[in-house]
Amino acid sequence: MQEYFDTNKKLWDIKTDFHKESEFYDLENFKTGKNPLNKIELDALGDVSGKSLLHLQCHFGQDSLQWARMGAKVTGVDFSSKAIELAQNLNTELGLDAKFVESNVLELDQNLEGKFDIVFTSYGTVGWLPDLEKWAKVISHFLKPGGTFFIADFHPVLLMFDWDKKELSYPYFNTGEPFTEVEEGTYADRDAPIQLKEYFWLHGLSDIIRPLMANGMQLTDFQEFAESPYNCFPNMTPLENGMYYYGKRELKIPHVYAIKMKKV
Ligand SMILES: C[S@@+](CC[C@H](N)C(=O)[O-])C[C@H]1O[C@@H](n2cnc3c(N)ncnc32)[C@H](O)[C@@H]1O
Repeated sequence: MQEYFDTNKKLWDIKTDFHKESEFYDLENFKTGKNPLNKIELDALGDVSGKSLLHLQCHFGQDSLQWARMGAKVTGVDFSSKAIELAQNLNTELGLDAKFVESNVLELDQNLEGKFDIVFTSYGTVGWLPDLEKWAKVISHFLKPGGTFFIADFHPVLLMFDWDKKELSYPYFNTGEPFTEVEEGTYADRDAPIQLKEYFWLHGLSDIIRPLMANGMQLTDFQEFAESPYNCFPNMTPLENGMYYYGKRELKIPHVYAIKMKKV
């Protein structure tokens, strides 16, 4: 397993250098106040001020720092050293008080102490993780009783497509084995001069929800959306409301899901 994580960590370290310069992440406008969070997670978590919030797979911390700007006491976690270093620098530059920890999310219980009101993770998360049983244990471990877990991510049905070939190419459920690809460019900059090997896993919705339930979490809300807030896959079409869709609009392919749970 370590070989897979090492390969992916290298990929994310290199991607971070391109992402910080990309239009997609729009770092300059973020620094002057642009809110990078989407209505989906803003509506779901509401007023976060004064709450402790653990952000898993925080990348270089834009969303984490936004929650901090909104008054949450934020800890962001990612295994990319480059991403964590940039997040820490941005925190200092913006005069915020977020904390950032470099760790594999599946080993976080060995690298961080404390309990949180909210555990948050979003858009491009479980696909990098082979083991959602361990992931759910980590989430449960860090949540206070009564605390909230929230995830918004790309729908496993959307991830079945080869978006270039416009064909269904991947299984819905986890096969236990990783898929491997060499990605050219990155979702945030398709022309970036990089060709990077990656390992990823597919997880159906029940693969995601059941381990959370088995670790003391109760479902309080579940939504599916027929469009995405991000233009991050090939061949997506923009909508007038700023969202994007893939495929035939009349098929209403699910693009994003959002799960909210309460730790009992
Ligand atoms: C698509 S990004 C996160 C998305 C976030 N919404 C964003 O765009 O800023 C995925 C992140 O997961 C991190 N990651 C992947 N596998 C990980 C692991 N096993 N442990 C911790 N972080 C991991 C990567 O370093 C990357 O920063």
